[in-house]
Amino acid sequence: MSQRKETIEAGINALMKYGTGACAAQPIGGYLDIHRQLEKEIADFVGQEDAILFSSGFGANAGLLRAILGKNDVAYIDSYIHTSAMSGLIGTNTKHIGHNDIEYLDMILDKEKDKYQTRLVIVDGVYSQNGDLSKLPEYISVCKKHNCLLMVDDAHGIGVMGNNGRGTAEHYNCMGQVDIITGTFSKSFGCVGGFVAASSKLIQYLRYYADSNVFSAAITPQVTCSVLKALELIKTQPSIREKLWNNVNFLRNGLLESKFDIGTSVSPIFSLMVRDNEKVYRIADMLQKKRIFASGIVYPAVRTKEARIRISILASHEITQLKHLICSLEEIRNEIPF
Ligand SMILES: Cc1ncc(COP(=O)(O)O)c(C=O)c1O
Repeated sequence: MSQRKETIEAGINALMKYGTGACAAQPIGGYLDIHRQLEKEIADFVGQEDAILFSSGFGANAGLLRAILGKNDVAYIDSYIHTSAMSGLIGTNTKHIGHNDIEYLDMILDKEKDKYQTRLVIVDGVYSQNGDLSKLPEYISVCKKHNCLLMVDDAHGIGVMGNNGRGTAEHYNCMGQVDIITGTFSKSFGCVGGFVAASSKLIQYLRYYADSNVFSAAITPQVTCSVLKALELIKTQPSIREKLWNNVNFLRNGLLESKFDIGTSVSPIFSLMVRDNEKVYRIADMLQKKRIFASGIVYPAVRTKEARIRISILASHEITQLKHLICSLEEIRNEIPF
């Protein structure tokens, strides 16, 4: 989306109409008609009543959590949630529930039923390092059973997962059953910015209490209009997403046939497990010499025995490029076994 003529033109037109910045936070003059339009459209897209914008996905997660959780509350978190959510939890109680460990969550929610006021379970839709999914339907039923709120950070799911790109909840056919969905415009939308989508009541509350919205300048008009255009393309041009998934499936089959370890990935994020920090750097460097950009993910982002090359697949990739990637990895493996 960051390279498409339509999103670029929408940004240029917004620059000409609105100028370079919103020049203030939303509550004190920086709230433009296009911001409200985007809030309504993104809320509708992810199946929530309303949404509030932030100038980053980081700010959305951190601002939301700082606003709704205090010292009498608790967050039950999957151990792989993003740092942005973690940073919003400093003033509250936090319990790690492992990764997709529903049985443990069920047990701890039961055990701690009268201990806290607000209880919030936080998971990602698609996990950013492993490219695997949360077990959303099971989280939904456990949260319902224990009368506990559920938040899904769907930064990597929206635009990509589900038949219409509405995210991980659509993929699992459980839209409308998650209390809070957060997301970013920096990934499938190709821009920058973030949002929280939830009930009108919660969004209204955040308009007063989410510090990273209230005390930070609103997203620029150019970005807002490029995001609106990207959202329109996501909705109206499913062929872009189809091409993405064809690419993903082609690469997955190719890597598995060549016996590469891609961990638990089921999304356009591929983790090529190398399990050695130094080898990761060398492989990433060799790939770059072959004109392939793949990020090396090493300690402390992951444990050393989980060091990996992370490959992100785009709709704009061509099959010849993916074949080049597989051949290059095979050549490199002959030199550096992994
Ligand atoms: C799961 C997840 N949530 C939130 C964010 C933050 O998004 P942003 O880049 O818009 O701050 C990221 C970014 O890497 C992410 O991977």
